[in-house]
Amino acid sequence: MPTNDSRTLHLSIDSLNMRIVGVILATLLAQQASAQLADVDWWKTTTFYQVYPRSFKDSNANGIGDLEGITLKLDHFVDIGIGGVWLSPVFKSPMKDFGYDVSDFREIDPIFGTMADFEELAQGCKDRGLKLVLDFVPNHSSDEHVWFNKSIAREDPYTDYYTWRDPKGINETSGEPIPPNNWLSVFGGSAWEYNEEREQFYLHQFVAGQPDLNYRNPLVVTEMEDILRFWMDKGADGFRLDAIPHLMEDQTFPDEPPSNDPEFTPDQWGSLSHIYTADLPELYPIIYGFRKVVDEKQEELGRQMVMMVEAYTSLENTMKYYGEGDVKGAHFPFNFEFITNVNNETTASELKEIIDRWQNALPSGAWSNWVIGNHDRTRVASRFGRDFSIAAITMGQLLPGTAITYNGEEINMEDTWISWADTVDPQGCQAGPEFYEKFSRDPVRTPYQWDDSVYAGFTIPDSEKPWLPVNGNYEELNLAAQKQEENSPYAIYKKLTAMRKDMNAVKSGQLGTSTVGENIFVFTRYLQSADEKSVLVVVNLAENEVNADLTGVPTLRSGAMITYHVGVNSSYTAGQELSPSSVNVPARGSLVFLYTNAASTTVLASLLLVFSVILSLLH
Ligand code: GLC
Repeated sequence: MPTNDSRTLHLSIDSLNMRIVGVILATLLAQQASAQLADVDWWKTTTFYQVYPRSFKDSNANGIGDLEGITLKLDHFVDIGIGGVWLSPVFKSPMKDFGYDVSDFREIDPIFGTMADFEELAQGCKDRGLKLVLDFVPNHSSDEHVWFNKSIAREDPYTDYYTWRDPKGINETSGEPIPPNNWLSVFGGSAWEYNEEREQFYLHQFVAGQPDLNYRNPLVVTEMEDILRFWMDKGADGFRLDAIPHLMEDQTFPDEPPSNDPEFTPDQWGSLSHIYTADLPELYPIIYGFRKVVDEKQEELGRQMVMMVEAYTSLENTMKYYGEGDVKGAHFPFNFEFITNVNNETTASELKEIIDRWQNALPSGAWSNWVIGNHDRTRVASRFGRDFSIAAITMGQLLPGTAITYNGEEINMEDTWISWADTVDPQGCQAGPEFYEKFSRDPVRTPYQWDDSVYAGFTIPDSEKPWLPVNGNYEELNLAAQKQEENSPYAIYKKLTAMRKDMNAVKSGQLGTSTVGENIFVFTRYLQSADEKSVLVVVNLAENEVNADLTGVPTLRSGAMITYHVGVNSSYTAGQELSPSSVNVPARGSLVFLYTNAASTTVLASLLLVFSVILSLLH
């Protein structure tokens, strides 16, 4: 009979055995995870950089950026460590919405260059290991597209390529035809335009020069799928899909109810609740169909493609774009949380909640992503201020998933004030002089600030005036100047993209989020494998410096020291080791530290050896 003492000894040996098995399993799993990393798809670990072609680099002195300009600057992408370039539309267009109104989906607009220029750009990307992603605008064409002209003339098979409706009646006083219902354009005013020749109204959810294609017509779907194939054959590595929630409308065309949002006047889009013109369930299968086309081409060409969806919608609807069951959708729909939900009043616990909510909403196996800004929304530096914008970019780079950067974010470019007289964006123009500042997207689209020469190096001094004014701050805020500064936004950005490339913790580490006090948000990207560094990001949402005790951060091993790596306005120097018990976090800033999460595997191996010797002695 074993004595009580020996039973206790056996029990603790058993639990010790269990723990050892646990440690071995954890180590094996961690090793397996690193082995799989080599196969991780390129679009997962990289940063996509959105180029707004009109404003990036003008090569022919007409004041408008072009493809050759982008080719001239390809080394900039390599320098800042991004792996994918996404071009806003460069297709043939009368430019009523600056390229988002396409009159030939298979041609390059002469403003941007030629097909040969496109091919040269694609080759230049390939030579540098960069991927090239195009903007695909399926919701509408230009009113100058040949399909639209044939549709006006009721020439088959184009008659129903667009959404046409009879007038509701004739206005007795003006004698004008009355639109079929109260639907509004995103840019303001009726979403219907009367066509004298066809004697019917056509639907346009954006400007009148952007007639909505009719996705209830299978021929339209086939046409658009062929266009995807065409560009993949030409060298595109994937697409950003534009304005997707607007793809389909209710077939019975009922009036939409008011939103009762006092912020909007009756002719502004926000004044209605868009239950019949946005997020219709029928649109998701169209996106799944596009994915099928992309996957088939990927198979045929032996090149991994990517498909990203632009959809400003609820979290629930956003997640549907990933697919349904076994049917694949987009590789990811854009995550706009930093644009739509984070603002200057956001508290640390709200920020944690916003990030956790997105991560928890992801369907199983879905890949995350973080968009900080784009050509439609106030620049991040103007939204959050010069310091917190870098904190936001830091989060976007180091949270799990793909990072997306809008050109200029890497140097913290700001919005440019544009007078009513200089306003060209249709959304601004349509709003009129009283409201244009609230709606115009011109301020976020001004020329890229390369250096302190005339026109900020965007074009040559005796060029025509740039299509939008250069920001007056360009002499102080430009790429060339930031290359000389040690801790400039550019230098920080480069360190962050390098972390994405070099560190397994950023590629595949677990995410842990927490708050410390009222103002500090912390997240870790940690690895169980003890031989590799984990990452700790500390963000201060207060207007003043905060001294934070981070020892309670759940994923930080007790006793671990942390090493400062990169940050904004930091009092620490790179490589400096400190205790997490007292960390000074600058006002509205972020600090990134590295740490080791557990004892190293060499130590574990020695411990295992000692335990197994003890065990064999006991048996
Ligand atoms: C998307 C684009 C925007 C464009 C609109 C219509 O939202 O990002 O710039 O005006 O679609 O195509």
